[in-house]
Formats: sequence, C-alpha cells, structure tokens
Amino acid sequence: MERVPTGVAGLDLILKGGFFRGSSYLIVGDVGTGKTILALQWLLDGIKKDEKGLYVTLAESAAQLRKNVSGFGWDLSSLKIRDFSPQPSELNHVGDYEVFYPAEVEEESFWQKLYQAVEEERPDRLVLDSVTVFHDLSANEYAFRRRLIAFIKFLLANNCTTLFLADAQEIKSLVSISMAVDGIVRLRLRPSKAHFTSSRNLEILKFRGSDVLLGEHSFRITSSGIKVFPHLIEKPVHTLKDRRVFSSGIKELDEMLGGGIEAGTVTLITGPSGLGKSTIAAQLIIQLVKEGISSVYYAFEEYLEMMLARCEKLNIPLAQALENGLLFERINPLELYPDEFLEMVRHHVEKGVRAVVN
Ligand SMILES: Nc1ncnc2c1ncn2[C@@H]1O[C@H](COP(=O)(O)OP(=O)(O)OP(=O)(O)O)[C@@H](O)[C@H]1O
Ligand SMILES: [Mg+2]
Repeated sequence: MERVPTGVAGLDLILKGGFFRGSSYLIVGDVGTGKTILALQWLLDGIKKDEKGLYVTLAESAAQLRKNVSGFGWDLSSLKIRDFSPQPSELNHVGDYEVFYPAEVEEESFWQKLYQAVEEERPDRLVLDSVTVFHDLSANEYAFRRRLIAFIKFLLANNCTTLFLADAQEIKSLVSISMAVDGIVRLRLRPSKAHFTSSRNLEILKFRGSDVLLGEHSFRITSSGIKVFPHLIEKPVHTLKDRRVFSSGIKELDEMLGGGIEAGTVTLITGPSGLGKSTIAAQLIIQLVKEGISSVYYAFEEYLEMMLARCEKLNIPLAQALENGLLFERINPLELYPDEFLEMVRHHVEKGVRAVVN
C-alpha cells in the first residue's frame, strides 16, 4: 500500500513512512494541542508534491483559520477551504427551526455538502475540522455510524487520504468514530512534573496495516510548524570497527587508562563540584581536535565565555581548538526535551562528528 508522508518532521519515522493513501485517520486532542496546525502542515506538504488539499471547516470560519496560522507565514492560497461554519445569516433565522429539530433539517444537507465538496474538488488530501459536529447533527448514533462508514468507504474509493480532527473531551463517548477510522493520533499538552513548564507529546493509539513506534513522542510547535522528536531505541552494536585508542591529553591519565580512551566507548568523569571535571573534558577534546577528530562539546551548565576564561588561565588552548573546528553547544536542559537533545547528538554524529563531550 502506498504511503502519504506527513510533512511533519519526525512523524513519518514514527509511522514508518506516513499515512496510507486513501485511509482515514482521527487526530484527537484537547483544545489548543495543535490539531489544526498539524492538519494544515500536512495539506501544505501535499501541495508541494502536487497533491490537491481540501480543508473543510465546521467550527472555525475560514477567516479565523487563516488568522490562527498567520504566525507561521504559510501560503494557504493553493489550498481549498470550504467553510461550513455557522454563518451570521443562519443564526438570524434560528426561529425557522421551531417546528423541526436541527438534526432533521441539517444532517442530510451537511453530508450532501460534504460529498459535493469532495466530488468537485477531487482532493488527494482532505481535512474535516471537526468530525464531532457531524455527530452533533445526527439524529442518533446508529445513523451517524452508518453515514460515517459510508463516507470513509467513499474516500477510499476516491483515493482520498483524510484526517478527521476531534476534541479529546467530545470524542470520549463517540466510540463509533474511533472504530471506523484506520488510525488514531493523539496530541497532548501536559505540565512537567515540577509544573514549571508544559510539554507536548503525540502518541499513535491505532494504526491499521503497519507497525509504528509506540509510546509518547515529544513535539514542539515552532515558527515553521510542528516538529516531532521520536523516542528512538537504539539497537546495540556488536562489533566496533574503530579500534583506535585516543590520548586524553594528560600523560599520567593515559598511563592509568592503559594508553587512553578507546574509540566507541563512553567514559563518565565524575566527582564533586570544583574538582576539575570540565577542565579534564576540555583537555581531552582539545587533544582529539589536534588529532583531526571532529568533536562537539555540549555544555549544560557553563557558558562558552566562562570556559574560555578558565582555560586561558590554565593555558589550555580551547580558543585555538574552536578555531580549528571544535563545535560548542550550550544546552539549557529546562528548554530541551530529552529526545530533542538526542536528536541533536544524532544529527552531529551523522554529520561526521566522532567525539562528544558534555
Ligand atoms: N506561530 C506559532 N508559534 C508557536 N506556537 C504556536 C503558534 N501559533 C499557535 N501556536 C500554538 O498552537 C496552539 C494552537 O494550535 P491549534 O490551533 O492547531 O490547536 P487545535 O488543537 O486545533 O485547537 P482547537 O481544538 O481549539 O481548534 C496554540 O495554543 C499555541 O500554543
Ligand atoms: Mg483547531
């Protein structure tokens, strides 16, 4: 089965390639968790690949939708937006419904409008925001389920991959939607343990037809959209190709280590504060840079200026190592998700960095 990439960094890795073409998915989350942003990002990714996108909005107006994502500077002009949200003129005529229940009047016409929109626009990617409005219009659960299943079949027949967006609170009692769709992505915003900050995460609760990376994966809404940091579990490596031993830059330490530090190993330098752990690490990395090994120093506590000043006093040529290509990254652990940091390390290693110190 053909996959439709999500256009969301990291999510394709979790889904092992993306959504399945023609399948329907539920994106569920509380208000403000990023459902609309994710859906729009996916549609815009489609447009880049010459796939037509249609966004059917039932709650927010098209103007509100544009306003809400204006911060990302996205060009929505090639995207078809059908606004089925209540219009002021309809609200004025609310008296017309006095003798009918809204469901009896609107249900039929809403579904018709939806089928018509898909038939006219022939989208490759469709978003319905939000699917619970259709449920609210239905006379009963049975009618809703039948109509939804028929619509999902129609979408599959038309090769139209679809995201149904839904509020997490509203969907709790709507088992029929969860059962009918091919997959469910849940978005969450949760306070950290210390309640100082909140963290966003995403979990795949259901995905017909493929294995996915299970568990909660952190994500961030950045100025360019959603970026997911998959929680990857590295496979153990059984054979080490590189058998080199590197000098620590300190003769006595090398002697104690039987020559130095072996390639591909992890060394923990530990001790009370002020004992010189960072200084030893700086000497080690400078030695590696001298030997032509690309290296990166991640500093969780110190700023570069502090490190430079201390090294200068001790005659450790850190400034020279930086000139010769040593990378220095200052990390604020309160700002970065653990998987976000790991992705940074992976990125550096994939770019050829061979020694990492922090
Ligand atoms: N330009 C931006 N940069 C970073 N984060 C943003 C930006 N714009 C919005 N956000 C974040 O995205 C959140 C809203 O995302 P979105 O509109 O996709 O949520 P939603 O799940 O669709 O909510 P609702 O259920 O209310 O429709 C905001 O609460 C805000 O935290
Ligand atoms: Mg929304």
